[in-house]
Amino acid sequence: MPLRALFVEDSPTDYNLLLRLLRVAGYAVDAVRVETETGLRDALAQGPWDVVISDHNLPEFSSTAALQVLKETGLDAPFIIVSGAIGEDIAVEAMIAGADDYILKSRLPRLVPALKRSLAAAESRRQERAAQLRLRQLSAHLEEVKESERKAIAREIHDDIGGLLTGLTFDLAWLQNHATGDRVLERLHNMQALLEQARGSVQRILRELRPPMLELGVVAALEWQAQDFSRRHGIPCHFVSNRETITVSDALLSALFRFCQEALTNIAKHARAQSVNIELFADPSNITLEITDDGVGLAADSQSKSGSYGLLGMRERAAALNGWIEINSAQGRGTSVMLSLPLAGDAGSAA
Ligand SMILES: Nc1ncnc2c1ncn2[C@@H]1O[C@H](COP(=O)(O)OP(=O)(O)OP(=O)(O)O)[C@@H](O)[C@H]1O
Ligand SMILES: [Mg+2]
Repeated sequence: MPLRALFVEDSPTDYNLLLRLLRVAGYAVDAVRVETETGLRDALAQGPWDVVISDHNLPEFSSTAALQVLKETGLDAPFIIVSGAIGEDIAVEAMIAGADDYILKSRLPRLVPALKRSLAAAESRRQERAAQLRLRQLSAHLEEVKESERKAIAREIHDDIGGLLTGLTFDLAWLQNHATGDRVLERLHNMQALLEQARGSVQRILRELRPPMLELGVVAALEWQAQDFSRRHGIPCHFVSNRETITVSDALLSALFRFCQEALTNIAKHARAQSVNIELFADPSNITLEITDDGVGLAADSQSKSGSYGLLGMRERAAALNGWIEINSAQGRGTSVMLSLPLAGDAGSAA
């Protein structure tokens, strides 16, 4: 088995001993030995590495510092400490800091099983990260599909059913002008009422599928949401933006709009709030939307409830757009949810 191993070790004798041990166990080791921080940084930059095996005490370095350097680089290679003597407290500290194992030089045969276990654990972490990434990409893709399906359905309803209703309205008006007899006129009058109801339903469905305010841009759309929320629920909802117009891509626009929609729906459903504030802030690199209420606050288990997908969906959607969300809440003192998305590279902001 090929193994790229990076050794932090000042003793060539110990290094050779460890190499021999790994080779006897069947590893085709491709190894580099470093003994200073600079050496380690340079070698890490030339990764990937399958494992870092570090002595504990070196003249110019220590395993604790080496582990910190490894963590800083963000590489997820197992880190195993091999030491002549290491106190239990130091070993525990190292494990807490993220070391995978520690081996006493007096018990070197433990190295190979420890290495195998650490490699397997690193591999399963890698697979988990890959699965999470795929899930995130899938959920971003589903959001896109959902938005574009909504748009397409809205267009169909508007053009098709909308057109038919308009035709019916004209015919009905003609009939009302030419018909005689009270019973017929009464029927026609009923038909007109039904037709108006149907028009109202179509308008409502269209609004829900593809809010027309989205065409007016993010500032106008969120402002409309705030007013609509106040009107529907009788709770004052105040909107401010640091800029009058902000140009963003369609993906960001619908993410911001749906985020606000979910946050306001949650407030209406759960918060028992007296007032709500919506704040939009854009600078050249990011756009941030914060929705704050003064209601009951989040319960401790709110973010892991089964059957609750709102907050989870917000998080996934933000991550898919390389952004993040932050939820702050104190029991009885309201809730604030914040979404921040990068504008850099956004198709809309380039305009
Ligand atoms: N503004 C808020 N104030 C108080 N509690 C909230 C607020 N927002 C969310 N919560 C709590 O957090 C839980 C999770 O919210 P989430 O939006 O994920 O799910 P949901 O609203 O219950 O269901 P779904 O959004 O899937 O229809 C809610 O059930 C509620 O208890
Ligand atoms: Mg919800």
